[in-house]
Amino acid sequence: MGSFEFESNSWIWDGVYSYQHLFGGIMLTVAVLGLSTSYFSGIWMPGLPWFWPDLGVLQKKRRRKRPIRVYMDGCFDLMHYGHANALRQAKALGDVLVVGVVSDEEIIANKGPPVLSMEERLVLVKGLKWVDEVIANAPYEITEQFMDTLFNEHNIDYIIHGDDPCLLPDGSDAYALAKKVGRYKQIKRTEGVSSTDIVGRILSFMKDAESSDSGVNRMLTEQPQNSKQAEKSLSGGSQMSHFLPTSRRIVQFSNGKGPGPNARVVYIDGAFDLFHAGHVEILKKARQLGEFLLVGIHTDQTISEHRGSGHPIMHLHERSLSVLACRYVDEVIIGAPWQVSKDMITTFNISLVVRGTIAENNSLLKDDIDPYAAPKSMGVFQVLESPKNITTTSVAQRIIANQAIYKKRNAKKAVSEKKYYEEKKFVHETDGS
Ligand SMILES: *[C@@H]1O[C@H](CO)[C@@H](O)[C@H](O)[C@H]1NC(C)=O
Ligand SMILES: *[C@@H]1O[C@H](CO)[C@@H](O)[C@H](O)[C@H]1NC(C)=O
Ligand SMILES: *[C@@H]1O[C@H](CO)[C@@H](O)[C@H](O)[C@H]1NC(C)=O
Repeated sequence: MGSFEFESNSWIWDGVYSYQHLFGGIMLTVAVLGLSTSYFSGIWMPGLPWFWPDLGVLQKKRRRKRPIRVYMDGCFDLMHYGHANALRQAKALGDVLVVGVVSDEEIIANKGPPVLSMEERLVLVKGLKWVDEVIANAPYEITEQFMDTLFNEHNIDYIIHGDDPCLLPDGSDAYALAKKVGRYKQIKRTEGVSSTDIVGRILSFMKDAESSDSGVNRMLTEQPQNSKQAEKSLSGGSQMSHFLPTSRRIVQFSNGKGPGPNARVVYIDGAFDLFHAGHVEILKKARQLGEFLLVGIHTDQTISEHRGSGHPIMHLHERSLSVLACRYVDEVIIGAPWQVSKDMITTFNISLVVRGTIAENNSLLKDDIDPYAAPKSMGVFQVLESPKNITTTSVAQRIIANQAIYKKRNAKKAVSEKKYYEEKKFVHETDGS
């Protein structure tokens, strides 16, 4: 069914296609300068026709010539594998996925301050393997004017949104117009995680820590005191995780390819907790040193032993999916050993083991065994200058520093999330490839 629709009304765009590169380039340049999208609607060319309302009349002339372009937007603050999975599904509905990243100003006006800056969020979104193009500083609400920009300047065929209703301030459906002209497609929310959950995990550990005194410092450095507490922190404190890792999800996120015959395999390991822009940048740098990037992800136990029972914030499988969703990653080891052994280097034919200069404070690390002793002795170890100094701890600290704001926001969102889970029904998910 879907493919017919794709074929029928896409030819019309052939004529305007050449404009897209021109405007795409200008749009991004200006957007990177930090101007808001409202600026762009002002420079719209009257010369370019408003084609899309007439689509029904002009069907089945030629076969499709150019790729189907789909658009999806979001704040992507504290980006997680749920966002990645939504974009994966969106990509499956077209050929080219264009993602709008909502501006800092718009997030502040609609939800309160974002945890991550526009620049950090852009790095995260661009790092996803399903994303082809981004539009920086997208508006929070899809207005008619912005829809016009999407259809005419960005040559978007379909706007994609999740199955949660998106209402404008006047109570009307934000996507009504796109639906009316048959340019709207929906994907299902299936991920079992949200940014609200993650903020909740960080704050709820805070709450537990407060009641037993030393507050913030304790969250960031504390030693696991008993197994029950450690268990609680791993399940996100009082915040219940709805995530159920399946082998199918891992397959959907995987590239499914091993290294080529003469590929240089580069290995990097870490916790990759609260996957952030610093992770994307170091993975990119590591990938450039070879043809295949293998990423070792440490177990929850290893991390909580080194960093305290508040860590990790995301479980091993959640962290694995976030890393797998990154375009620079070829394969992950789910639960990698702390020490990189000679046997491991042989097993995976690793040519180079790397680490970044910016690391988390593993203050509880007692033994002084060098985890990289083997690669060092084999002469295959290299330290890479971390392009960004952001860490998981610094992201968590931003939330803790603004905890009053985030607590309030979370309390409000938690109500609608609870309702969502109570009313949730089985949905069939878009499969992708
Ligand atoms: C192992 O990696 C090297 C590159 O470092 C490559 O030349 C070699 O072909 C690989 N071996 C196999 C069996 O693929
Ligand atoms: C790491 O944590 C320890 C223990 O809390 C602290 O003394 C030290 O200053 C921290 N180091 C850095 C670089 O933050
Ligand atoms: C991290 O880098 C930014 C800019 O590159 C700088 O402003 C900031 O002070 C740095 N923070 C730390 C903790 O080094």
